[in-house]
This record gives sequence, structure tokens and C-alpha cells, in this order.
Amino acid sequence: MSRKKIIAGNWKMNMTPTEAVQLVETLKPLVVNEDVDVVFCVPAIDIIPVVEACKGTNIQVGAENMYFEDKGAYTGEIAPAMLVDAGVKYVIIGHSERREYFAETDETVNKKVQKAFEYGLTPIICCGESLTQREQGITIDWIRQQIKIAFLNVSAENAAKAVIAYEPIWAIGTGKVATTEQAQEVCCAIRACIAEIYDDATAAAIRIQYGGSVSASSAPELFAQADIDGGLVGGASLKPDFGKIVNYNK
Ligand code: 13P
Repeated sequence: MSRKKIIAGNWKMNMTPTEAVQLVETLKPLVVNEDVDVVFCVPAIDIIPVVEACKGTNIQVGAENMYFEDKGAYTGEIAPAMLVDAGVKYVIIGHSERREYFAETDETVNKKVQKAFEYGLTPIICCGESLTQREQGITIDWIRQQIKIAFLNVSAENAAKAVIAYEPIWAIGTGKVATTEQAQEVCCAIRACIAEIYDDATAAAIRIQYGGSVSASSAPELFAQADIDGGLVGGASLKPDFGKIVNYNK
């Protein structure tokens, strides 16, 4: 089965609303590739102007986080209905920076994943090991645990629509990209884990991205791997280079 590639930018905590619109205008003509779903995941305050600026283009807009309750007294949080109403289609869940700095756990990730599906949002579910875990040889066990908890009480039908981002923590923002073999090995293990939890059809449908220092030069080989269906791109998504990454196959 052939899966459409999905290449998403994660802007992290960068770009004021004014800068965000300027960046969209710069990137718009560069990120056209009909073989690829293109997503800009942007800070919450940038969502409305970015959705507006992306109208009539191939770019879909994603959020970088959301809360797992419908609404209420949760000062500072963003509800899924707010994202949907603003025109958001994707939401990054459980990025390692949120796990490290904002106390996200596998359990909160699972609650958010379920909530995203309830509202018709596609979660981009992040997983990844630390350098210590890789050196200890427990990478695959760790990732399998993250995946199993993330997908608790998620139907096969929804799981098939999910996006998983494998982001080794040691490769994020370090310029130290995983080798294609390392990235493919883990993405393959993730797909096998999904097949175990659900079935082969779900595993064949789900899209798995690699993230961690993806650049215009590393993208073509990474995205050519059997189990890598695109990328989640940090630093390089803020530059015209993102156009080259999206057009990795041209
Ligand atoms: P970099 O591409 O800057 O390493 O960031 C990766 C990442 O965390 C994307 O979510």
C-alpha cells in the first residue's frame, strides 16, 4: 500500500504573528509538491493569521499542543474545539520538549490523542529515546511502551489516520541527524508495534515521520526508507530550505 508522504514544520516558540505571515508568504511558492501533504504547525497565537495566509494553498495548519478537556477552568490552555474552529487540521501531541519542560507523560499524551480524534483532528504523536537510552540498548523497548500507551482506547479506524513522529531526542536541534539505518530501524519497529496492537492493514496505513535535524541534504535518503513517510522538521522549517525538504523527490 502506498502512503502519501507528510512533511510538517514544527515552528516551536518562534515567529510573532506578523513574522508568521511573512514566513508563510515566503514559503508558499516553495512548498508545492502534490506527492506530499504539507503542514505548518505553529504557535497558538499564530494559528488564525497563518490559516488566513494559507487559504487557497496546499498548506494545512497544525497546532503544537492542545489540552485534553473540552472546555472550562484551565487557565492558559487551548481546547480542541478552538483549534477546529480556527481551521486547524493537525495537532502535535507529546513532543519531547513538552515531555521534558511541561511534564507531559505517556498518560496525558494518550488523553490528548483520544480527544484529538473525538474532534476530528489528526494527532502527530511524538516518541523518541534519549541518548542514554540508546546507549543502554533500550530504544525499541522504550518506543514500544510510548506507542502502546499513546494508542490505549484508540480504535483501529482512528489509529490508521494517525501520524507518528519518531524523534530521537539526541537528534533534535543538535545537527546530529540519525543515520538512515537508525531511523528506518525504529520506524519499522513502530509499524510492527501498530500491527501487534491492531492489524496489518492499520500498520500499513499509519504514517510515520522521522524528526531530528532534518535538512535539505538528509531528507531525500531518509524519506526514501520503506517505513519513513516524511518528516517533522524544526529549525529548517523556518527557512526557504523547507521548500527543498518538501521537494525532496524532485
Ligand atoms: P530540529 O529539526 O530543529 O532538530 O527539530 C526537530 C523537532 O523537534 C521537530 O519537532
